[in-house]
Amino acid sequence: MNIVVLAGGLSTERDVSFVTGNEVAQALRKNGHQVILLDLFMGYHDKEEDLEGIFSRSLEASAKVTGITGSAPDLEAVKRSRKDQSPCLFGPNVIALCRMADIVFLALHGENGEDGRVQAAFDLYGIKYTGTGYLGSALAMDKGLAKRLFAANHIPVPAGISLKKEDGRKEWKETGLSLPSVVKPCRGGSSVGVSIVHTEEEYQKALEDAFSLEDEVVVETYIKGREFSVGVMEFRALPVIEIAPKEGFYDYKNKYAKGSSIETCPAELPEDITKNMQHYAQEAAKSLGLDTYSRMDFILDEENHIYCLEANTLPGMTPTSLLPQEALEAGMDFSQLCEKIIQISLEKYA
Ligand SMILES: Nc1ncnc2c1ncn2[C@@H]1O[C@H](COP(=O)(O)OP(=O)(O)O)[C@@H](O)[C@H]1O
Ligand SMILES: [Mg+2]
Repeated sequence: MNIVVLAGGLSTERDVSFVTGNEVAQALRKNGHQVILLDLFMGYHDKEEDLEGIFSRSLEASAKVTGITGSAPDLEAVKRSRKDQSPCLFGPNVIALCRMADIVFLALHGENGEDGRVQAAFDLYGIKYTGTGYLGSALAMDKGLAKRLFAANHIPVPAGISLKKEDGRKEWKETGLSLPSVVKPCRGGSSVGVSIVHTEEEYQKALEDAFSLEDEVVVETYIKGREFSVGVMEFRALPVIEIAPKEGFYDYKNKYAKGSSIETCPAELPEDITKNMQHYAQEAAKSLGLDTYSRMDFILDEENHIYCLEANTLPGMTPTSLLPQEALEAGMDFSQLCEKIIQISLEKYA
């Protein structure tokens, strides 16, 4: 097949997305496909051009990938570097190339990519893509909204509230929550802007940080416990993985710096807890309509209560990412997983 692997874009997870994209592209090439790795925002070259036969030059036409640094990328610098200085999210030739592909493998992470707008645009263009459609993506992206849907479907979530910038600063007392708590941007990812706060002063500072990224913020009770993630494919849960950062919580650095977290799959848990967590993961996927693949994050507190933190509709996809490790435990290696995602995504168009 001719496949575009779409990565990059203008989210805080731009760099992470390229690593996913590069790995997926390599795996799909090994499977015999002609694959172009394409930067959503920077596009391919900077002017319209004749793209005929481009898939036969797919390696040459692919974006070159560098790697992840210790912090989130400077998006203003990325914007300044685009020649046409257009506000259009789709860079030069992106739509044209995607229309030529048999399917677009979405390797995007974070806002613009995970929030459903690219999916909606592709639906209108008749472009086939992997993963969840626009509505499930949009629901999962909004942590406040997703939590309300989880709660309505009997999936336990940490107590919390959503705050809007326009409503002004809320004093700590008015939140009705207890310390410590967690402050996070409603639509962020990769723990960017997430703070654990122990005092009212820390809460105010964390609000300021989170509101500098977004206009809506979630504040929720801090759950002390062990952290897990559960991938779901076609509404069936994969084995549970445990993530134990060596220091602090699962922040940006601990997510991407090699060796900073210990990951155990299958997680060492009593069978009933494993079953319950997998059940909640499947229910979470159902409640948001995440029909192809997704990955839910959980915390298990010291009394063995399970809490669902969030759903990821385009989770990290390198061979050492969480969902691929779970798939491997279930007997599917990375290239088989990439192939499977394409197959179940194409089935939706049949
Ligand atoms: N309520 C909570 N209690 C304890 N830790 C939390 C809580 N919410 C988030 N965290 C920590 O912050 C990390 C990121 O939060 P999460 O909601 O998964 O957002 P994202 O991964 O999209 O940035 C989690 O993996 C966890 O380590
Ligand atoms: Mg998470």
